[in-house]
Amino acid sequence: MESQTPLLKVKNLKKYFPVYGQGLVKRQIDTIKAVDDVSFDLMPGETLGLVGESGSGKTTCARTILRAFKPTSGEVLFQSRQGEVDLAKLSEKALKPLRQDMQMIFQDPFSSLNPRMTVSDIVGEPLIIHNLAKGMELENRVSEILEKVGLSPEYRTRYPHAFSGGQRQRIGIARALIMEPALVVADEAVSALDVSVQAQVINLLEDLQEDLNLTYIFVAHDLSVVRHICNRVAVMYKGKIVELSETEDLFNAPKHPYTKMLLSAIPSPDPDQKLRPIASFEEIESANNC
Ligand SMILES: Nc1ncnc2c1ncn2[C@@H]1O[C@H](COP(=O)(O)OP(=O)(O)O)[C@@H](O)[C@H]1O
Ligand SMILES: [Mg+2]
Repeated sequence: MESQTPLLKVKNLKKYFPVYGQGLVKRQIDTIKAVDDVSFDLMPGETLGLVGESGSGKTTCARTILRAFKPTSGEVLFQSRQGEVDLAKLSEKALKPLRQDMQMIFQDPFSSLNPRMTVSDIVGEPLIIHNLAKGMELENRVSEILEKVGLSPEYRTRYPHAFSGGQRQRIGIARALIMEPALVVADEAVSALDVSVQAQVINLLEDLQEDLNLTYIFVAHDLSVVRHICNRVAVMYKGKIVELSETEDLFNAPKHPYTKMLLSAIPSPDPDQKLRPIASFEEIESANNC
């Protein structure tokens, strides 16, 4: 993996949101630094975890990388089929053909699937939007991806409400992967599922990664989920990455007090294991220099 070019190079990425006052004249009174100078590389085939408590900026970071948000500043260098591009600088028009290479899997399979569309329409829609397939070819590609995510092609005429939470997440995964993307961002993709179903969906994501050559950014607030699937983990705190380590190093020898605090919140399966000391917020703030 070392000799390869990174699929993604994120450099000094910032996304600030203005906060406006209540008055008649729209006046900016504050700025939320949701993503504040984030940098990392992502190798092809790698899974990078993005963890941190709610509000730390994980979703904004992911969405800014995929250009659902326009970055305030910074670079997002992506190895596209046509060579390296800076996603941060491209116009909407120039981005459009690249969008198929970057897909997102969302947390809530209940709200992200249109209840009035059949499975076949939901999963095939991206191919229609991008004008990539129609007729028999479209049908065949839908059936093929449904089988890959472990759903019988017979389900294609059914509506989302007929499925369990885990099955709906499989439909969401099929919709994202039918575009044959290079980069997939899973934002809390298993957080709403029962633990046993979580494990199935994570195993599925791992199998698909190998099968389809995918590179993942795996966003989660739950560290135990991340440990299983990620090669490396970036810990976010107040819009910054405070620690980025190989997964096992992060769990065995966390460096930043905030990482230690997050880890201490995971219940240990071994009752004899000593509890790690919980870092105080003063420690976190001083280590964070902010
Ligand atoms: N569209 C937006 N407009 C204004 N503020 C936002 C917007 N999206 C997120 N934020 C703010 O940015 C911060 C980071 O949020 P988010 O990225 O959702 O964190 P996380 O995914 O880690 O829970 C929060 O303070 C949130 O309120
Ligand atoms: Mg989020």
